[in-house]
Amino acid sequence: MEEFLRMEHVSKRFGDFYANKDINLTVYKGEVLTLLGENGAGKSTLMNVLIGLYQPTEGSICLNGKKVRIDSPAQAVRLGIGMVHQHFMLVEAMTVFENIILGDRNTKGIFIDREARKKEILELSARYGLDVELDRPITEIAVGAQQRVEILKALYRGAELLVLDEPSAALTDIEVEGLFKIMRKLTEEGKSVIFISHKMREVLHISDRITILRSGEVVTTLKREETDGQALANLMIGRELAPSQYIKVEQAGEAVIQLRGVDFQKDSKHNGLSGVSLTVGRGEIVGIAGVDGNGQSQLAQVVTGVLTPDAGTVDMKGSRVAQFTPNGFILENVSHIPEDRNKMGLIGEMSVKDNIVLKTTETQAFSSAKGLVLKKKAIRDYALEMQKKYDIRCTSVEQEARNLSGGNQQKVILARELEGDPDLLVAVHPTRGLDIGATRFIHDTMIEARDRGCGVLLVSADFDEILEVSDRIVVMFEGQVMGVYSGKNPPIEEISLAMAGK
Ligand SMILES: Nc1ncnc2c1ncn2[C@@H]1O[C@H](COP(=O)(O)OP(=O)(O)O)[C@@H](O)[C@H]1O
Ligand SMILES: [Mg+2]
Repeated sequence: MEEFLRMEHVSKRFGDFYANKDINLTVYKGEVLTLLGENGAGKSTLMNVLIGLYQPTEGSICLNGKKVRIDSPAQAVRLGIGMVHQHFMLVEAMTVFENIILGDRNTKGIFIDREARKKEILELSARYGLDVELDRPITEIAVGAQQRVEILKALYRGAELLVLDEPSAALTDIEVEGLFKIMRKLTEEGKSVIFISHKMREVLHISDRITILRSGEVVTTLKREETDGQALANLMIGRELAPSQYIKVEQAGEAVIQLRGVDFQKDSKHNGLSGVSLTVGRGEIVGIAGVDGNGQSQLAQVVTGVLTPDAGTVDMKGSRVAQFTPNGFILENVSHIPEDRNKMGLIGEMSVKDNIVLKTTETQAFSSAKGLVLKKKAIRDYALEMQKKYDIRCTSVEQEARNLSGGNQQKVILARELEGDPDLLVAVHPTRGLDIGATRFIHDTMIEARDRGCGVLLVSADFDEILEVSDRIVVMFEGQVMGVYSGKNPPIEEISLAMAGK
């Protein structure tokens, strides 16, 4: 096979921390090369070096056998490298079409031939099965469609190598299948794909070769057919991870929260609740299973005080909730791991340290004179303690939270939300996008909270996760509770049918 890209002895240092160290990597034409590694292993950094967003501290890059210098993303585009970032970079106020042609050198000035361009884009979209509506604004299209726009944009600019950084993290199963079809089509035409994921099933399904990164270094590169999921997982985390065996609780304690006949926008099948009754007791994990968008988000928002139900009642620790406000629920000792950790969970521009104490800065431990004087040393010491306890991997607790990898951002939220010994923990997709090591850590932490008597409401679209940790399983479909099942030897077939509304 013919080589397209070769990275040799590439290192990238931030201060005295090596995010990438002496990396050697080859990508052939017509293959899918997967970069596999835990959160924080250095995958995104390496790709940002490749597309000229960062300059390597050492090392070199060759394309088609020739050494190149890539000093900007625009230069990478000219060299045939396109990247779809973990967080999309589309301009929300613009339409799909405007986003695709944005920055195209030939479209400056007023004389762009919009119709000809549209035709060209539609041809590309038909060829690769990249279904998009060109005149819709970005804000109106789903996440899966936004991703297709990003891919189309890269192809329109002539990408020969497409880098997909955790593209499946936000997609439904059907959308992932569609993405794989597109990837296959690209490689059949001799183009190359670098795929980043830590979902083992997907990696085994789509990769030709797999390069494993750990702590910024390449561990090894394997052909798909010479390995399996267990071997890859062990290489990735650098130790053996035995299958988890959580003991299921069969008898929960008194109710922490109880919903009776709760409606919220009850006629909306995908964003509403209709006659929902359920209870979470002390010392149990209630898992809400269901395909994303069947009212789970609304349920989580009701039990954290973000939304007020239209009808029905909610009792918290035995008393009727009269007012739904997030602050009121925090005062009732409800903790929340929100769905979108970038928008609601963390303040990206703030340090890890300040995010950890976010809810407690005004308490006596961290401030005096009613919050006017912060006890800096106490805050820092506490943050360091939490960094250790929750295994938060960052260069320092002063680092901005937004520069942490996803798993470590999630651990910052856990450290803040779980330390107050909550009565109720509402965890929404807590491990979405996380690697197995971080996922296991978060599951263990939830189980520990449960065993201390906390009631846990877990919302997850990952059925395996629901089965693994739930003591009871509640299935939701179109805003309704379809059934409640024991988490011990759950009837998987029946639950799957309920999830499909049958
Ligand atoms: N701009 C930055 N400044 C300091 N440290 C960074 C920066 N970007 C990434 N890092 C650190 O580099 C390491 C690798 O991060 P990243 O490449 O995002 O990992 P991955 O994509 O494999 O999850 C992490 O420890 C992260 O905190
Ligand atoms: Mg990354």
